[in-house]
Amino acid sequence: MNMSSSPAVSSPLTAIPADIRNAQDYAALAPHFMPPSHYAYIAGGSGYGQSVAANVAAFEQWAIYPRLLRDVSHGHTRITLAGDDYAHPLLLAPVAFHKLAHANGEVDTARAADATETCMIASTQSSYPLEQTVARRGWFQLYLLPRREDTLHLLRRAEAAGYRAIVLTMDAPIQVANRRALAAQFQLPADCVNVNLRGYDLTPRFAGDGPGESRFFQGAMRGAPSWDDIRWIMDATRLPVWVKGVLHPDDAVALRDAGVSGIAVSNHGGRSLDGAPSGLDVLAAIRAAVGAQFPVLYDGGILSGSDAFKALALGADAVAIGRLQLYALSVAGALGVAHMLKLLREELEICMAMAGCATIGDIDSGTLLRQLRR
Ligand code: FNR
Ligand code: LAC
Repeated sequence: MNMSSSPAVSSPLTAIPADIRNAQDYAALAPHFMPPSHYAYIAGGSGYGQSVAANVAAFEQWAIYPRLLRDVSHGHTRITLAGDDYAHPLLLAPVAFHKLAHANGEVDTARAADATETCMIASTQSSYPLEQTVARRGWFQLYLLPRREDTLHLLRRAEAAGYRAIVLTMDAPIQVANRRALAAQFQLPADCVNVNLRGYDLTPRFAGDGPGESRFFQGAMRGAPSWDDIRWIMDATRLPVWVKGVLHPDDAVALRDAGVSGIAVSNHGGRSLDGAPSGLDVLAAIRAAVGAQFPVLYDGGILSGSDAFKALALGADAVAIGRLQLYALSVAGALGVAHMLKLLREELEICMAMAGCATIGDIDSGTLLRQLRR
């Protein structure tokens, strides 16, 4: 083994690094705290990463108008989502296998969520069991399993563990290769297995390998979630059911009409269809289509409070943070994630205050200027 070619990986810190000033600084530090292949898997997207790049570029098209002489002395960031009150609109998006970033994995992330009054959406794909990763008023992201009895069992476990909402991820019916992860020879380490799904039969129901069949049309897509599945889950639980991965206004309207509690506008962090638009670019159209009252969450590319502000201005009720939570986790465990969330919330408060918005509800499209520079 050629040890000299792999850069040394630093152990997680037990104190907040002194030179961190912004939430985004954790993204720059993370490569020093993870094996390169783990970092490549997390940072990468599907295919050539067009949609990852779109997520970053989308924010650069907008500027925030500072406003003068507004009284924001009664300001706050509180919101209500799915019937629960939250201190701020910054959620933790469901991301798989937090152990890739830190040995304490999702357990530490959930502690950080509790310390900062953050709603954590725990992923089905987890390196710790869902019973140990439930944050206060946390939500559970459910992937439909090949067999309904297994999905139902997983759902019942999530209910029993105290999760407050179910998020059905619909946008990843086909696993598209993450070229960065492949190039870095990423493999899930032996201590990082999907413990939530132990004991379930995960054999796909359809292979699509018969004569003249396609692995995608007759394989993966036949096992993909359907309208029937959404209705079945809504009937099976009293928890609010959200759908994640919406990018077309017509899909958003159809889901609203089907009775889901809310939608997450997302391109899966650029990890599903490469070439899908950034959710930010379709957010205003989706908000216009579903109306002012229907709950909409946004995720993709958020690295700062001003990014969060822009998504809220374009129509989101709340936003979720994906990769940045793993980056902060790798640098300093629960402390890092809590610190990152504190910084992000302060950055949002600064934007709100200087844009003259005392409440989240005050953040509307009039706060933004479209920049056509790029
Ligand atoms: C994800 N995402 C994701 N989504 C989901 O519904 N279930 C999952 O298990 C995962 N797993 C996952 C792993 C990793 C490593 C990443 C980076 C992302 C997608 C996630 O919820 C979210 O949509 C994006 O991460 C948001 O984009 P940013 O904030 O990472 O740019
Ligand atoms: C991903 C899957 C796990 O984005 O959702 O990697």
